[in-house]
Amino acid sequence: MAKSGRKAVFADLEEHRQRLEDQPMRVQFAVDPNRFQRYSATAGDILLDYSKNRIDEDAMAALFDFARSVGVEERRTAMCEGEHINITEDRAVMHMALRYQGDRPVPVDGRDVMPDVRDVLSRIEHFSNDVRSGAIAGNGGDAFTDIVNIGIGGSDLGPAMVTLALEPYGRADLRAHYVSNVDGAHIHDTLKRLDPKRTLFVIASKTFTTDETMTNAATARKWIADALGEGAVNDHFAAVSTNIEGCKAFGIREDRIFGFWDWVGGRYSVWSAIGLPVALALGYDNFAALLKGADAMDQHFLSAPLEKNLPVIMALLGVWYRNVWGFATHAVLPYDQRLSRFTAYLQQQDMESNGKSVTLSGKNVSWSTGPIVWGEPGTNGQHAFYQLIHQGTDVIPADFLIAAQPHESLPPHHDKLVANVLAQSEALMLGKSENEVVAELKAQGMDKERIRELTPHKVFPGNRPSNTIFYPKLTPEILGSLIALYEHKVFVQGVVWNVNSYDQWGVELGKQLAKALLPMVEGKPGADHDSSTMGLLNYYLKHKA
Ligand code: F6P
Repeated sequence: MAKSGRKAVFADLEEHRQRLEDQPMRVQFAVDPNRFQRYSATAGDILLDYSKNRIDEDAMAALFDFARSVGVEERRTAMCEGEHINITEDRAVMHMALRYQGDRPVPVDGRDVMPDVRDVLSRIEHFSNDVRSGAIAGNGGDAFTDIVNIGIGGSDLGPAMVTLALEPYGRADLRAHYVSNVDGAHIHDTLKRLDPKRTLFVIASKTFTTDETMTNAATARKWIADALGEGAVNDHFAAVSTNIEGCKAFGIREDRIFGFWDWVGGRYSVWSAIGLPVALALGYDNFAALLKGADAMDQHFLSAPLEKNLPVIMALLGVWYRNVWGFATHAVLPYDQRLSRFTAYLQQQDMESNGKSVTLSGKNVSWSTGPIVWGEPGTNGQHAFYQLIHQGTDVIPADFLIAAQPHESLPPHHDKLVANVLAQSEALMLGKSENEVVAELKAQGMDKERIRELTPHKVFPGNRPSNTIFYPKLTPEILGSLIALYEHKVFVQGVVWNVNSYDQWGVELGKQLAKALLPMVEGKPGADHDSSTMGLLNYYLKHKA
């Protein structure tokens, strides 16, 4: 679809917005007892309730038409068929192959990738089983008790989030740690509690050149060599990368290098060998179950009609709010403590994918693209930023996530958690009108004057949109499905916004400038910079000692 076509559709959608401005959700719920049935859908056991949104059937129909007109289905096929949809890096986007459970060949550039995918999975299985059983041990024969993954971005956020989310599947005597930041505090504070004899490092980097990771890897290598001797390094390191030569040059033995491929984007790589620490910490079967759950969501995404397709629905609602209502941020609020890194993971998945300003053909977009994604687990968020979500001047569409069953048998915790998540979406939708506030205060026996003063402060505007995603229990399969759900949502939005969701040039400039500035930060002479940068640099040089 031509650029003007998208602009024209956004303009047409404006008509629907104007109609819905006058029909707050609380009125729509009152007149339609079937609103929940009408606006909810399932993928396997996962329920998406999107009835608490500013929508009606006409608006939804217009959004589905929009998705069809921009070619969401055709682009989905193009992705599956290995077309180089990542045009700026000239690469296919095939992370779905990493979790594919069927037996059809999956060709990329004319070659079936499934034998290589299965080969790496089998090597992960054997290596993780052997580490967990103690058959592969440290240089002195001690079983490993601590795995330290060194990586950043997609080589960290995915496995770190999954390990935390699936804590009930872990073993107390085998812990996974994640070091990402180049700030020495991160590796220092991680290693200070660990015993080198029992520590296995996984250096995870798609490129094996990322400065943060290489710096932390060198520090870890020295830590092992200082404690156990240079000869021990071989036994205490493994690596995950597409750059096999780089891993070898670092000194990692060949049978401990786990490869993946350039058709796997960093932020879509948790399904590849980047998931090795997950298999080590939680067992290969749980890693395999994560892949299986993701594949189940893939099959839903590929086969469900758009009107019943969870990622498509969520994507279109996001577009609706971003481009038609002008809402700039989107909150992801898991009522699941173990999903406390889920939103941070989604920030990379969403914002690195769709934080773009040019179309596929390199023209400036004339519509807003990716929203700011943020959030923290409930109920903690309720006592921090929910005030603004309920009564602030900005409207913030939100996703609530909640399990039907907890892993713990600790009544009444989970019932209270569920009551809270239901209450939040209800309160956001309903709000509290002036009349309701006055009636409530009168019933408390408050005098007229005080009621007049207090009422404006106690009114909730309501009509604030949210989705609720309910799942049976946070198992590896369900987590795999949830991650894939958001991946496909981001894909659909990228198609609607006509951007390349699979490159990330925006992170390059900072990297280049940091490289150029490092010698000056170290005290060597260098080229002049702007007065702010020079002023800050001089402050640093004066105070660093
Ligand atoms: O942040 C930029 C980025 O390239 C991400 O896309 C990637 O996940 C991360 O850096 C780490 O890269 P690598 O795995 O190559 O070390």
